[in-house]
Amino acid sequence: MSNFWSLWIILLTAISIALIVWLLFSNRKITVNKENKTTGHVYDGIEEYDNPLPSWWIKMFVISIVFAIGYLALYPGLGNYPGLLHWTSVGKWEKEVQQAELATESLYQGFMNKDVVALADDKKAMRLGKRIFANNCAICHGVNAEGSYGFPNLTDHDWLYGSEPEQIRMSITQGRNGAMPAWASILGNDGLESMSQYVSNLHTTGTDATSPAGKQFAMLCSACHGPEAKGNPLMGAPNLSDNIWLYGGDVGQIKQSIAAGRAGQMPAHHDKLSEEKIHLLTAYVYQLRQSSDANAK
Ligand code: HEC
Ligand code: HEC
Repeated sequence: MSNFWSLWIILLTAISIALIVWLLFSNRKITVNKENKTTGHVYDGIEEYDNPLPSWWIKMFVISIVFAIGYLALYPGLGNYPGLLHWTSVGKWEKEVQQAELATESLYQGFMNKDVVALADDKKAMRLGKRIFANNCAICHGVNAEGSYGFPNLTDHDWLYGSEPEQIRMSITQGRNGAMPAWASILGNDGLESMSQYVSNLHTTGTDATSPAGKQFAMLCSACHGPEAKGNPLMGAPNLSDNIWLYGGDVGQIKQSIAAGRAGQMPAHHDKLSEEKIHLLTAYVYQLRQSSDANAK
């Protein structure tokens, strides 16, 4: 605001207050007809009394003028003048934000003092964890963490990279890159067909190292998926013997996985989320696993 307008507003405010004071006091004195306390005005035989304004009313009026002057001295209101208290709405807001941050900081600090297993039993922490999950993870894993095509279900007992606290924390912090090579050129058309059949039946038959496809599996696939096709958390190679599929379990989809390979990517979150939030999320995901383990039993 320029100085001119600032002065303009100060002047207008001062003049208004002065006018109000003058109005108040000038109206208190009226030449009264001493004998019968009337103003001498008569309308159709009705005389106008000249009773003074009630004193409580005048006091209220004076108090409100004093209040206005006091307010204008302490708080911003007169042009550019900041007021003796230097109060600003931005300052008030900043103070509130600071207080809120302090409150959440100590809240998170309390959570950091608990290990993942203990935290998973903390109802308050898990409510907060659910919210952080909804904001950061649900877009891929779903609101209920049940996953979808290419995004693993985090509530079942089937894990690519393991469900121990440190494994979950690692998945979130560093991210994960699934690396399933493409086998189309190595297996050929017929090989691809029989391998897909073989893999799609693993959950009922188990591995069979005597069949041609079984032999091939032992040679080409077991290094990552394990000799019994139970998977390997170090490689993120899924269990192929449990009929839970990341990319679909019908023969056509399995064939696609084997022929062209897969490369699921879980983004790293160490630079997106604070250590405290990752700690909470680890416990939240761990707790999802726990409830699924209970259901599986
Ligand atoms: C951009 C999509 C995306 C986002 C966002 C995402 N994830 Fe993932 N996540 C994936 C994919 C894809 C995989 C599987 C990687 C693979 O196939 O190797 C995965 C894997 C995981 C795993 C390992 C699962 C297992 O079976 O071992 C965990 C745990 C996990 N995510 C938790 C989270 C959490 C917690 C968040 C939120 C901070 C999150 N993810 C955000 C896509 C995502
Ligand atoms: C270098 C290690 C490696 C080898 C060797 C390998 N795989 Fe995989 N496979 C993976 C990984 C890792 C994934 C998960 C990919 C992802 O998360 O995106 C996977 C995924 C799959 C899937 C999809 C599973 C699902 O849940 O949808 C199938 C099917 C599969 N592999 C079959 C095979 C077969 C058959 C062979 C042998 C011809 C083989 N793999 C060899 C690492 C390997």
